[in-house]
Amino acid sequence: MKTTLLALAVAGSFAAGLVHAQSGADVVKAKGCLNCHELDKKKVGPAFKDVAAKYKGDKDAQGKLAEKLKEGKGHAKITASDAELKAAVGYVMSTK
Ligand code: HEC
Repeated sequence: MKTTLLALAVAGSFAAGLVHAQSGADVVKAKGCLNCHELDKKKVGPAFKDVAAKYKGDKDAQGKLAEKLKEGKGHAKITASDAELKAAVGYVMSTK
């Protein structure tokens, strides 16, 4: 019985993991980033392409920017998991 429950729990968290593994493009839509950002035009915030250009060649940018969005330091605080934020920033960086 215990083993069955454990197996179910493991299967459950695995399924939950899959649900959270969204692509960056999906996160950017789902989390409302596009309310303030556009791909190639300045809106409330800078165009994602400009952000990508600004951080081009900065290997730490993805982690730093994900952290910035998460903490809400100098940016609107975004409620999303670390994985979602990393995916979203990865998407932003891929728009250059
Ligand atoms: C309420 C409006 C708003 C929302 C929602 C928003 N942003 Fe922003 N964003 C801004 C503004 C304004 C700036 C420019 C100021 C700054 O650099 O923080 C910005 C800047 C940025 C930057 C550049 C930061 C830097 O240090 O150069 C990135 C990357 C970014 N946003 C990503 C996102 C992502 C990803 C989301 C969704 C998860 C998002 N933003 C949602 C308004 C918003």
